[in-house]
Amino acid sequence: MEVVPLDSESAVADMAAGLLTALVSRRPDAVLGVATGRTPQRTYAELARRASGAGRSLAGVRLFLLDEYVGLAEGDPAGYLATVLREVAEPLGISPDHVHGPDPSRLPESAEEYERAISDAGGIDLQILGIGSDGHLGFNEPGSSLTSRTRIKTLTRRTRADNSAFFPGREVPRHVMTQGLGTILEARHLLLLATGESKADAVAAAVEGPLSASCPASVLQLHPHATVLLDPGAARGLRRLDDYRETWAGKPEWQRD
Ligand code: PGA
Repeated sequence: MEVVPLDSESAVADMAAGLLTALVSRRPDAVLGVATGRTPQRTYAELARRASGAGRSLAGVRLFLLDEYVGLAEGDPAGYLATVLREVAEPLGISPDHVHGPDPSRLPESAEEYERAISDAGGIDLQILGIGSDGHLGFNEPGSSLTSRTRIKTLTRRTRADNSAFFPGREVPRHVMTQGLGTILEARHLLLLATGESKADAVAAAVEGPLSASCPASVLQLHPHATVLLDPGAARGLRRLDDYRETWAGKPEWQRD
């Protein structure tokens, strides 16, 4: 695992946007797995800024959602498909036809169909990930099978509280559909972004703790190419922080993506 402690939240967004820009220049029809939530918002904005500054079209890129709420009305602005269309696809100039998400209105068959859609697209080149304060990855809450596939899950009380700001004046849904941990592990490159002290314990458990369903994000340890970008708050709990800094600083440019 490549652990990169950075100086600020905007440095995390800069480096993530740099990795994504390098990928889409190499592969204009790249398949990106997109996370929602607060953390990656600056990365998407920075990616859009760089693409428009360079006059680069991202129209060939295909987007696959990590997860979705169950039980929202179609087109509800808090739904993740609506969020990705509005906050990622539109600013990047990616057509809605290139945006795919699990369909919570047709469970359980839509879970398997989503897995098939990902593999029909050739698999995910790069999966952007956040981490829950409880260590969840996607919406795979603690206790999730490390080999799980796309399916319905129940959110923990903590995750519903963390996400309440996205549902002002109403309840956060209890159920979600999420790519499984086994699904996530099949992406060719995993890019985990974490910012803020509220993530420090979860990051430390994921990076330095045992591989365990109690911290679903610890599955990153099983992946041959996982990159973890951290701001100082999120990196605070790491015992080997100085080692990660030194290793990263010593890496030649060509090894950094
Ligand atoms: P956040 O969510 O980016 O809003 O903190 C991350 C997650 O729940 O995976």
